[in-house]
Amino acid sequence: THMHTTVMMMATLTKALKPILGRQLGNPAKARHFIYTPPPAKYGGRHTVALIPGDGIGPELLNHVRELFRFSCVPVDFEVVHVNSSSTSEGDINNAIMAIRRNGVALKGNIETNHTMPPNHKSRNNLLRTSLDLYANVMHCQSLPGVQTRHKNIDIIIIRENTEGEYSSLEHESVSGVVESLKIITRNNSLRIADYAFRLAREKGRRRVTAVHKANIMKLGDGLFLQCCKEVASGYPDIEFDSMIVDNTTMQLVSKPQQFDVMLMPNLYGNVVSNVCAGLVGGPGLVPGANYGRDYAVFETATRNTGKSIANRNIANPTAMLLASCLMLDHLKIHDYANMIRGAILTTMNETRLHTADIGGQGTTSEVVQSIMRIIQSGGPLTTEI
Ligand SMILES: *[C@@H]1O[C@H](CO)[C@@H](O)[C@H](O)[C@H]1NC(C)=O
Ligand SMILES: *[C@@H]1O[C@H](CO)[C@@H](O)[C@H](O)[C@H]1NC(C)=O
Ligand SMILES: *[C@@H]1O[C@H](CO)[C@@H](O)[C@H](O)[C@H]1NC(C)=O
Ligand SMILES: *[C@@H]1O[C@H](CO)[C@@H](O)[C@H](O)[C@H]1NC(C)=O
Ligand SMILES: *[C@@H]1O[C@H](CO)[C@@H](O)[C@H](O)[C@H]1NC(C)=O
Repeated sequence: THMHTTVMMMATLTKALKPILGRQLGNPAKARHFIYTPPPAKYGGRHTVALIPGDGIGPELLNHVRELFRFSCVPVDFEVVHVNSSSTSEGDINNAIMAIRRNGVALKGNIETNHTMPPNHKSRNNLLRTSLDLYANVMHCQSLPGVQTRHKNIDIIIIRENTEGEYSSLEHESVSGVVESLKIITRNNSLRIADYAFRLAREKGRRRVTAVHKANIMKLGDGLFLQCCKEVASGYPDIEFDSMIVDNTTMQLVSKPQQFDVMLMPNLYGNVVSNVCAGLVGGPGLVPGANYGRDYAVFETATRNTGKSIANRNIANPTAMLLASCLMLDHLKIHDYANMIRGAILTTMNETRLHTADIGGQGTTSEVVQSIMRIIQSGGPLTTEI
C-alpha cells in the first residue's frame, strides 16, 4: 500500500504541475500538440487499453498479444470492442471510438473496407483516425537482425499527415463521366504535422528531416505543405531540412535508402512511401505503426493490411503486431516491459529457423510466440534498442 500511495501522490503531483510545466516549455500553443503525457495508471498501477481485433489476422495476432502480456505479467487490462466487416451499422465503430476516448489508448487490427458501399461511406479505419484527430502517423522502419534483405542498415522514421490530403472522402460525379476527388491541404494541419516531425526528430536525436511532395505539379496544395514545413524548419536550426519530389523519393528509396533520416509527408505519399519502406526491411509482417493525436494514441501494424488470405492458419508473422504492442507499452511509460518483450522478439527474429513464410521460413505464428515466451522466462534477452 505504501507504493500505491506513492504512485497516487506522484500522479496527483504531476497533474498539479502540468499546467506550470506546460507554460515553462515556451510556446504553449505548440507544446499542446505534442504527446508527452499518456493516461495515468489506475489504482494499483494498472492501465486499461481498448482492443479492437478487426478482421483477417487481427483477432489471431491480438490473442497472441494478450497471451504474451498475461505471461509477462504486463499491468495492462483490455477492453475488447469488436468492429469488423460483418457489422453493417455505424454502432460498432462508434462504440470503438467511445472506448478509445474512455481509455485514451488502443491496440487494433485492421478493419476491412467494403468497396461496394456508396462513395460517401468512409473506411472505418479512416473514420476512427479522423474522429479522434489522430493527426500523426509514425512508422520507424529499421533493418532487423537475422532478416535477409537487399539493403542493410536502414533506419528511417516516417511521419505522415493522417487526417486530410487525399483521404478527405470528398468525391463526386456531378457530370456523368467526370469525377472530382478533393485533396485538402490546410495551413494549420500542415504546420501541426511539421512541428510534430521536428519535435520528434529533436527528441530522438535525429539530424535531418526531408519533406516529400509534388509541388511542381500541385503548386497550391503541395506548395502550401512545403511552405509550412519550411516555416517550421526555421524554428529548429539544430535540425537540417531538405525536400524531395515524391517520384525521386521512391527511386532513391529503392536504390539508396540509407540516405534518409526522418521523412515528413502528406497522407497519400505517406501511404505509398511507408509501404515501400516496409518492403525494404522485410515486409508488412515486421513493421509496427502508431497514430498519435493530442489526446489519443492508437497502435497497429504499419502497413494496414488485413491479411485475410492467411487468417486463422497459424502462419502469419506476429512480429509487427507484437512490436506495435511494445510501442503501446512505451507510450504508457512502462518501458521495462516494452524493452523486455521487444528484446525477446528481436532475439527470436535472429533465429532463422523460426522465420514465418513471409520472410522465407517455415515457422508458425505460435512457434514464434512460444520462443519469445521462453526467452522472457529464461530471464530475458540482452537489452536491445530499436
Ligand atoms: C465481429 O464482430 C461481432 C460483433 O459485431 C462479434 O460478435 C464477432 O465475434 C466478430 N468476429 C470476429 C472474427 O472477431
Ligand atoms: C458490402 O456491402 C454490400 C452492400 O451493403 C453488401 O451487400 C455486402 O454483403 C457487403 N460485403 C461484405 C463482405 O460485407
Ligand atoms: C487555424 O488555427 C488558428 C489558431 O488555432 C485558429 O484560430 C483558426 O481558426 C484555424 N483556421 C482554420 C481555417 O481552421
Ligand atoms: C533526386 O535525389 C537525389 C538525392 O538527393 C539528387 O541528387 C537528385 O538530383 C534528385 N533528382 C532529381 C531529378 O530531382
Ligand atoms: C544475431 O545472431 C548472430 C549470429 O548468430 C549474432 O552474432 C548476433 O549478435 C545476433 N544479434 C542479435 C541482435 O541478437
